[in-house]
Amino acid sequence: MSESAALELKLPPKVPGEKPGTGHMEEFNVNFARFLMRCNAECGELAEYNMAGQQTVLMSGPEAQEAFLKGLDKQLSRAAAYQAMVPVFGEGVIFDAPPERMKTQLKIQVDALRYQNMKSYAQVIAQEVEDWVAGWGDEGEMDFLDEFIRLTLHTACHCLLGADFRYKMTEEFKSLYHDLERGLQAIAFVDPYLQQPIFAARDKARARLQELISEIIAERRANADRQYGDALETFMSGTYKDGTHLSDNEITGLVIATMFAGHHTSSGTAAWTAVEFARNPEFTPEVLAEVQQVYAQGGELTFEALRELPKLERFIEEVLRLHPPLVLLMRRVIEDIDYKGTLIEAGKTVAISTYGSHRNPDYFPDPERFDPRRPQANTAQLMWAYIPFGGGPHKCAGNAFALMQLKSIFAALLPRYEFELVDAPESYQDDLSAMVLKPSSPCRLRYRRRQP
Ligand code: HEM
Repeated sequence: MSESAALELKLPPKVPGEKPGTGHMEEFNVNFARFLMRCNAECGELAEYNMAGQQTVLMSGPEAQEAFLKGLDKQLSRAAAYQAMVPVFGEGVIFDAPPERMKTQLKIQVDALRYQNMKSYAQVIAQEVEDWVAGWGDEGEMDFLDEFIRLTLHTACHCLLGADFRYKMTEEFKSLYHDLERGLQAIAFVDPYLQQPIFAARDKARARLQELISEIIAERRANADRQYGDALETFMSGTYKDGTHLSDNEITGLVIATMFAGHHTSSGTAAWTAVEFARNPEFTPEVLAEVQQVYAQGGELTFEALRELPKLERFIEEVLRLHPPLVLLMRRVIEDIDYKGTLIEAGKTVAISTYGSHRNPDYFPDPERFDPRRPQANTAQLMWAYIPFGGGPHKCAGNAFALMQLKSIFAALLPRYEFELVDAPESYQDDLSAMVLKPSSPCRLRYRRRQP
């Protein structure tokens, strides 16, 4: 945009309450979802806040969210906004790859989550859920967040790296994964290369994880005629335009990136779904009847059968409205933007808040009320207001996988057990202390075998 054209435009309103040096960072760190709602309430569709010097413009409302989500990479870059992920995914992987290579890597990642693999993933997940429930007995009490973190780590490893790896999964693997996760604290978004023990542990874990995954890759190359039906198989067979395969470093990066995209998003949603079933028992009979009908037809919970559970799906969609795991999506502005007469300058960050959008009473009346019977969000009016999976070119590649997994879990649990809250209903809150929203700990529920 020319300088004179830019001068004609307004600048986004600034959010009050900035502190010298740190800007709004402190308030953001206390509860960033609420902070973002304040930004929108006080400034409107565009609101500029300051994260220790990084000016960020929050874009709110369906129109602004659509413009954000449909933005082209050359204007609104995800890579520049998510540099904190580079040491975790690895050099040359996704956000650190040149645009053409990044495109191919993302395509190969999407391929691994497509229909052809989904049938075998559905079987794997059903088996994992059966193994998990087998030891429950008639009644008990447990922390469902911890349980779902464990279950979805098992399903993720199984679907990504195959049965051999999953059943040999070591404490070493879990602790490496944990070190990678710890490397993504808020400070990593300011500078992921600071001299800090958590970053040193992150880098050591990334290197060791590559050694472990390279061993599996080497073993598979030596047994080229075996079929696995897992994501690693798709990653290993994918090629760039010139026919070359991905390196071990790139394959490791895709495995990590897919785990990071899918693991806590799924475990947090599963835990919130269990809590909402316990907190809103009036909706259980209709969901249960639907699931029992599949079983009554002699059905197993195959991938096809799971697609036919609209009431359970609506219940999960309402969970995702109130508790969207990815609260904040970000991009870096590469070229100046004229958004309806306001200039958003290159170099700034833009962000949207799924959490705030899903609580906008203009689109979701009485927004704090859990109600799976709300009008479905697949209308033109609600499409860009209901955005738990994002939208546009970078819409979640794993949304079919995620819904299939959640339906598989609850279609197996609901006919067998009833759930009750252990603690006071208001003590189950959204925990926003990490990048991915989850229920606060402890997330205790009581379960009791359902009487026939
Ligand atoms: C309830 C569960 C999930 C939710 C709410 C969710 C949400 C999202 C959102 C909002 C985005 C867009 C991010 C952006 O625009 O910056 C995204 C991207 C992505 N998600 Fe998910 N996700 C979930 C589960 C999964 C699972 C299980 C997987 C994989 C197994 C997955 C893989 C991905 C990938 C690969 C992308 C990047 C797509 C691209 O860059 O083109 N997600 N997800």
